[in-house]
Amino acid sequence: MRSWHPGSWRDMPIRQVPDYPDSTALTAMEAKLAKFPPLVFAGEARRLKDSLAAASRGQAFVLQGGDCAESFSDFNANIIRDSFRVLLQMAVVLTFGGGLPVVKIGRMAGQFAKPRSSDVETANGVTLPSYRGDIINGPDFTAEARVPDPSRMEFAYMQSAGTLNLLRAFATGGYADLHQVHRWNLGFVARSPLADRYRDLSTRIDETLRFMAACGMNSSNAPQIRETEFYTSHESLLLPYEEALTRTDSTSGDPYACSAHFLWIGDRTRQPDGAHVEFLRGVKNPLGMKVGPSMDPAELVKLTEILNPNNEPGRLTLISRMGVGKVEQKLPALIRAVQRAGREVVWLCDPMHGNTIKAANEYKTRSFDAILGEVKQFFDVHQAEGSWAGGVHVEMTGQDVTECLGGAHRLSETDLSTNYATSCDPRLNAEQSLELAFLVAEELKARRLGLGAAPQVAAQ
Ligand code: PEP
Ligand code: CO
Repeated sequence: MRSWHPGSWRDMPIRQVPDYPDSTALTAMEAKLAKFPPLVFAGEARRLKDSLAAASRGQAFVLQGGDCAESFSDFNANIIRDSFRVLLQMAVVLTFGGGLPVVKIGRMAGQFAKPRSSDVETANGVTLPSYRGDIINGPDFTAEARVPDPSRMEFAYMQSAGTLNLLRAFATGGYADLHQVHRWNLGFVARSPLADRYRDLSTRIDETLRFMAACGMNSSNAPQIRETEFYTSHESLLLPYEEALTRTDSTSGDPYACSAHFLWIGDRTRQPDGAHVEFLRGVKNPLGMKVGPSMDPAELVKLTEILNPNNEPGRLTLISRMGVGKVEQKLPALIRAVQRAGREVVWLCDPMHGNTIKAANEYKTRSFDAILGEVKQFFDVHQAEGSWAGGVHVEMTGQDVTECLGGAHRLSETDLSTNYATSCDPRLNAEQSLELAFLVAEELKARRLGLGAAPQVAAQ
């Protein structure tokens, strides 16, 4: 294999690359970022890798979620707090359902760069370069906003640092206390039209917490109740930024991408000989790779060999995103190929990206039933193949947005315009996210008890 260095991706063919008009400004920004402090440190990334290794053995479940794209205009404490809170609420429900630790990873503090299916966008007869995420250009439909601007990388770094600082404070400063998270869930259950269905699980969590308190375990003496571990992740798309934030760990001497704990490769940039695979194969962080319906089994095995040559558990997470209805057709052959080759992986289900549709009123949306349906098919296929369905990867927010259809509150196409706020793909809102967690928890419980699939998981 060719030798690797943080810039070796520059010799490889690259896709989804922004066309920066001012290359001097780009080089100057790379040099500036290279002197900034790392956002995460290697020991944290190794800890996450260990937790993911547990998920690869069937001893943990992974919850990865957050915005499709973070945005500069949504940089405020409430938005960060609310997404974090909903992820914790989901994690408690999943932990109880599965009887397993839940590894929590936000699509947060760095999820700014977006791959696009077309380089240009046309509206009212005007064609402009596509919006590629706030770290690259601006969302406004003007020629000026769409010019890739390297100075945006500096703001993205600062926003990531501010977000991460608050997440760390929330995770360990008392906000994440299990009793409090459970109280929020009780509020959700009381509001839900499906309250009866969810009451049983929440009552049992309540009793468990009381039992633990009676045994003397409480927030003041058990850090596991008071604190949580929370990791950050984003798509490793903008390689000049990722290279500039790569650091050599002083403990191990190994290179780490220090822009986040976990980086993934998107479905559009996973070519075995491409620049994105080249960059990530050399950093030691735990990695993800999206696996869409066009993935070929032999190519998947080859990619697992490139990205995880020593076959280390926890190093590589495969994020399946087939679309409801395609899972049974595509996933079994991929799982079998990985098993036959003896490759260590964690399998996650991203039920969002294969299920994007256009509503009659032109809104890009996703239906809750399709999302839930894909998760259920993912569980069923893994069960049939004797493989471990290791977690879910979702686009969600803690805000009360109206971007995805359905859920217990039956959001309809006409509701979409009420609060459609995403800067890229449609996200589950807070209630829909919790709803999904309760329904997935039923699946996990059925699996734990060896009952096969949960009897009926349709939301309505
Ligand atoms: C994403 O996760 O936002 C994304 C673009 O996904 P994919 O690469 O799977 O299309
Ligand atoms: Co998306």
